[in-house]
Amino acid sequence: MNAQNGNLSFIVLGASGDLARRKVIPALFALYCQNLLPANFQVLGFARTKMTDEAFREMITAHLTCRYTPGEACGERMTEFLARCFYRSGRYDSRESFQALYGTLRELEGPQEACRIFYFAVPPAIFHDIAHALGGAGLVRPAGSQPWTRVVIEKPFGTDRASSDELSQQIKTVFDERQIFRIDHYLGKEVIQNLMALRFANLIFEPIWNRLYVDKVFISWAETIGIEGRAGYFDGIGVIRDVMQNHLLQMLALVAMEQPVSLTKYVRDEKVKVLRSILPVTIEDLVLGQYAAGGGQKGYREEPGVPADSITSTYAMAVLRVRSRRWSGVPFILSAGKALDRNMTEIRIQFKRTAGHVFLDKWPEGLPPNELVIRVQPDESIKFGIMNKVPGLGLNLEHTELNLRYASAFDGLIPEAYESLILDVIRGDPGLFICEDELEASWDVFTPVLHEIDEKRIEPEPYAFGSAGPAGIQKMLSKFPPRW
Ligand code: BG6
Repeated sequence: MNAQNGNLSFIVLGASGDLARRKVIPALFALYCQNLLPANFQVLGFARTKMTDEAFREMITAHLTCRYTPGEACGERMTEFLARCFYRSGRYDSRESFQALYGTLRELEGPQEACRIFYFAVPPAIFHDIAHALGGAGLVRPAGSQPWTRVVIEKPFGTDRASSDELSQQIKTVFDERQIFRIDHYLGKEVIQNLMALRFANLIFEPIWNRLYVDKVFISWAETIGIEGRAGYFDGIGVIRDVMQNHLLQMLALVAMEQPVSLTKYVRDEKVKVLRSILPVTIEDLVLGQYAAGGGQKGYREEPGVPADSITSTYAMAVLRVRSRRWSGVPFILSAGKALDRNMTEIRIQFKRTAGHVFLDKWPEGLPPNELVIRVQPDESIKFGIMNKVPGLGLNLEHTELNLRYASAFDGLIPEAYESLILDVIRGDPGLFICEDELEASWDVFTPVLHEIDEKRIEPEPYAFGSAGPAGIQKMLSKFPPRW
């Protein structure tokens, strides 16, 4: 049976939490508004907090948006959608709680057996308990059976290679790899999905997409906010585990991988290959920072729940090296930071300098390099930096940009990452999800240095809240002057 024309139960574990309220359930509503959910579906929330169905509906309403059905129709759509949302409370480690959940599901599903998606919007520490309780209560059907059962899990998948392997083993005692959808929500972002089209649907990039033409690649991620009360999750974890080992490394993989045999099946194989070719990061290739007070905002160590001597990094710059014929010698400079001066995620492919001898009298230090800038957010765009003559008498050159701004080039709404990914789970398309091999290879890049930082208690450099980051950035960048 295909969920699209069948019966689907979407069970959100951790339904009273932030992720469920802000991302998962609004994405389901958005799919509903676009008629992308099956005719019969039910959303069943489960968490420890006691709540009635009505209270649950009230709680989730606040985050449902009318993007796809503006105007009066929206109210109607919301009422219909909410009428299919239910809630049960219980303990995550209790088979009885899940047996009760099973009873509710059977009632809601009616006589036609439903496909089931279990969405784990809970901390990974309890993944194992839940998986076991689900298995014990008979809620999980074996892989390959119809109607199917799938499980969606969210990072962090462990804190290093060993703990990630352990988590994988635990989950695999109940679910088969074919049933597991590991979300990295950056893979659902529109511009990141476009990397495939940009690279493999255009002729002009391929001949220059290599060490002969590319000088360096920057993958940068910046947020203006601090940890916003998430000390319980963030402290001891830090920005490398939070976003670099997953979101940024996935972007790198899509930029650096070879063309897959087909888009439907083999993208992950190519990503695994390139991830395995990355040398483990060393401490010499790393800048670590931690935000201090600035602009009237608290420093990280003053945040509630953060120890006064915490060495958790809120900023990191790492230089990664890919050992391959295509990329040998090209540094991939990844940076990620909270409490910085801007909100921005982008990939910047910087090409080598042109010899440009005829212009050297005007630009004795050399012409600025061409750059392809893929802006993931905000203001999604693809820009290409070129040298151009400034119109007018005389010969003056300027570095200018060809700019494809999504907002002006395309009419349609840009879907939220979660909409796209949840739809793929329903359709059974695992292409944009992280497979076990990718996870292992990603941890191998960072695990040795993460251990070294923890063991030697390496202090991050302070930087002011709202600044451009720690001073060490400039020193690191000066090691990579532009090449010809
Ligand atoms: C999450 C991180 O994975 O991504 C957060 O845990 C971060 O720390 C968030 O703020 C950013 O996501 P987005 O989609 O807002 O860029």
